[in-house]
Order: sequence, then C-alpha cells, then structure tokens
Amino acid sequence: MKKIVVLISGNGSNLQSIIDACQQNRIHGYISAVFSNKADAYGLKRAEQADIPAYFINPKAHGDRKNYDLALAEAIDLYSPDLVVLAGYMSILSPDFVQHYHGRLLNVHPSLLPKYPGLHTHQRAIENGDKEHGTSVHFVTEELDGGPVILQAKVPIFEDDMEEDVIKRVQTQEHNIYPLVIDWFLNGRLVMDGNKACMDGNMLPPQGYAAE
Ligand code: GAR
Repeated sequence: MKKIVVLISGNGSNLQSIIDACQQNRIHGYISAVFSNKADAYGLKRAEQADIPAYFINPKAHGDRKNYDLALAEAIDLYSPDLVVLAGYMSILSPDFVQHYHGRLLNVHPSLLPKYPGLHTHQRAIENGDKEHGTSVHFVTEELDGGPVILQAKVPIFEDDMEEDVIKRVQTQEHNIYPLVIDWFLNGRLVMDGNKACMDGNMLPPQGYAAE
C-alpha cells in the first residue's frame, strides 16, 4: 500500500476528505502520518480520531525556516512516504525541502492559478469583480504557488457573496478534486516531468487536466 504524509496548519477539512477517501477506497493508499506547524490545528484531532499518528512540530524550537524544514523532513522520512500532501499548510517551504520531495509533493491552492498566488485569494477575486473563482491542485516547486497545475475546479461568484460564501464553495470543490489527484499519483498515472505535469504519458496544459 502506498503511503501518504499530510502537512496541515488549521481546520483540516481537506485532510478529512483524504481520510474519508482512503477509508472508502477512492484513494488506493493510506495516510501514515500528519504533521502540523500549529499546536491548535483542528486537523490534528481529525487525524487522532482516525488513528493516524499526528504531530505538532514547534517552529520556535527549530530556529529559522531552513532548520525547521530539516527537522520536519527528518520526521516525515521516518514514514518513508510515496507522496507528501500539503493540505492548508500555511508556511513557505525552503528550497531544500522542496528539492528533497521533488515530484512527490502536492499542494491545493484556492485560486485558478496562475491567478492569485499567495494569500486572501477569495477576497481579491471579489474585489476585482471576478465572476468565477476556484481551486488548483499542483506539484510544488520552488516558485510560490507556481508549480505545474494538475487539476482545477471553478465556482461562480455571485453579486452578494461574502468572502465566507466563496471560501465554502471553493472548499467543496477542493474536497472533490484533491482525493482524485492523489489517487492518480499513487496509481502511477501522474508524474512530474521537468517542470510539467504528465497524465497517462501526456503533458498537461497550463490549466491542468480538463482545461477548456
Ligand atoms: C484550503 O482551502 C486550501 O486551499 C488553503 O487553505 C485551506 C485549508 O483548509 N490553502 C492555501 O491557502 C495554501 N496557499 P483546511 O485546513 O480546512 O483543509
């Protein structure tokens, strides 16, 4: 069975969708450990409830980002994961960490990349008068939110939407597409080739699979 390690910082609703998908055999693999850089991340409780080893690694105990990421990678590698999944992990990763997991590190970002890398994506989309927003699952490279996109899902933005409305709509889609992509990877259908995502031997376009 293929092994997944998940990194979180918060609520862990995406983690929950991955736990559920593993339990329902929609993902052919299992989560061997969950790591958080926040002590109070609710996702740690979700992991414990599912009998998954869950750890808080304290950034204050490891000096700068490079040292923290070294300690994190050491802890992760004890589980020898096939895939490392960022699920609301809200810290920029050091280049060494990204290199170490090159080609087996995925992220979900709440925007239709390359639009809106970084934070506050939903609010920025609303303020710009966008009629649609969405989410992207992508391979992680050293460029922040810049790695090759694998799959996106779009949602509408309605006129009287508050930020929370859009966040909720986007997250519903994340819970659908992230487990799907994880399973593609674990089944060997999806690989990173150079700086491109390849699915079933075909290079994916910039917007990922099923782009318009
Ligand atoms: C998700 O919506 C994810 O797209 C976002 O954080 C949320 C975490 O929710 N990630 C980023 O913004 C990363 N740049 P969750 O903890 O409930 O899964």
